Amino acid sequence: MTRKLFIKTYGCQMNVYDSERMAEAMGGQGYVVTETPDDADMILLNTCHIREKAAEKVYSELGRYKGLKAAKPDLKIGVAGCVAQAEGEEIMRRQPMVDLVVGPQSYHRLPELEAKARTGAKALDTDFPEEDKFEHLTARPKAKRGPTAFLTVQEGCDKFCAFCVVPYTRGAELSRPAERVMREARDLVERGVREITLLGQNVNAYHGHERGLAGLIRELETIDGLARIRFTTSHPNDMDDALIAAHGECEKLMPYLHLPVQAGSDRILKRMNRQHTAEQYLRLIERLRAARPDLHLSGDFIVGFPEETEADFRDTLALIEAVEYGSAFSFKYSERPGTPAAERAQVPEDEKDDRLQRLQALLTKQQRALQDAMVGREVRVLFEKPGRLPGQMVGKSEYLHAVHVEAQGIGAGDIAPVRIESSGPNSLGGVLMAM
Ligand code: 5AD
Ligand code: SF4
Repeated sequence: MTRKLFIKTYGCQMNVYDSERMAEAMGGQGYVVTETPDDADMILLNTCHIREKAAEKVYSELGRYKGLKAAKPDLKIGVAGCVAQAEGEEIMRRQPMVDLVVGPQSYHRLPELEAKARTGAKALDTDFPEEDKFEHLTARPKAKRGPTAFLTVQEGCDKFCAFCVVPYTRGAELSRPAERVMREARDLVERGVREITLLGQNVNAYHGHERGLAGLIRELETIDGLARIRFTTSHPNDMDDALIAAHGECEKLMPYLHLPVQAGSDRILKRMNRQHTAEQYLRLIERLRAARPDLHLSGDFIVGFPEETEADFRDTLALIEAVEYGSAFSFKYSERPGTPAAERAQVPEDEKDDRLQRLQALLTKQQRALQDAMVGREVRVLFEKPGRLPGQMVGKSEYLHAVHVEAQGIGAGDIAPVRIESSGPNSLGGVLMAM
């Protein structure tokens, strides 16, 4: 019997990857994915715990399914991801409509948990088992897929930044062995994938290859048909010489790097337990740019970290001015119970709002300037899908800019040279050049 599975994914790309793999595992149980909760036999919320009100969001989302559950008592509702890990038991207690709770390290047990839930029992698994969940998930079916894919190679984090729940929810750093990653990558390429983004909470700490992430990237480069490699997200202190060199030497490694710094004041970086100074970060960027002069950088920033003064905040603005980011994510500090920063003197909310606005104005200006500077240049675009207008195709440049092109005879998965002619709010427009 075919059953329908609706998965709602919150948070980072690692959750996107996990949701795909859970859908595949449930495929083995006769489930097909549906895009709406209305006709689902099972609803799974894949949650994120990184910022405040995570659990509240889950409860309010669950509330929306009350009517569905009442109309269809057979409907099973599950909570997965980092909120499940942190607050699973509490969720089950507080919200009786939840049948199943599964933590991020136990997804391979999802089919068993679902079978248990089908008997009417409550099913909960938030262990950190020894086995590799990805190996125990059923193999990906050989179906064709789009030209870009995520591939998780590392999970967990040992850095313990003072604001962050990841070391608690996702546990210690763990790398998948290179041969398993290679097998999965080859399989993805056979199914039509041309670009792989390697994922990890702290991906450049990867040690599943004897020569680290750089070694893995060099091995991935040998796969025919794989054209592009990216990785995210990285910690500055794990950016070793081999990885810096790879940016200059590996043709398939794209010139775009997400390297969060969080803040530009040494006083705040120290309180954040980042283990590096602003100057060290800037020197690292210099070395990366020496290896790959056209590298576009992206980052994460937190404003209003406890005890952050106006002067500290200005140091962050100064660092941003010095780096010139191609894109960035920025957040107001959000107090996370159980993390060291939650104990310290908090910055008033209106101050955080004001700083976030000023920070984002600067980042948007930089992002726009770098995007506009692409006009007149030639880039190579990996086409992904038709655009909104007839005859249009959309893809991504090496620098991750979305590019629209009027293109005859171009299909998803093709890579072609494009001259950029215009720069809009969120994307570039260009014309196809002779190949
Ligand atoms: N408050 C605000 N932002 C946070 N991040 C992580 N924890 C918090 C928090 N408590 C941000 C960091 C990190 C990104 C994934 O989320 O910038 O790099
Ligand atoms: Fe969190 Fe990233 Fe710091 Fe690890 S390195 S504790 S995941 S912010």
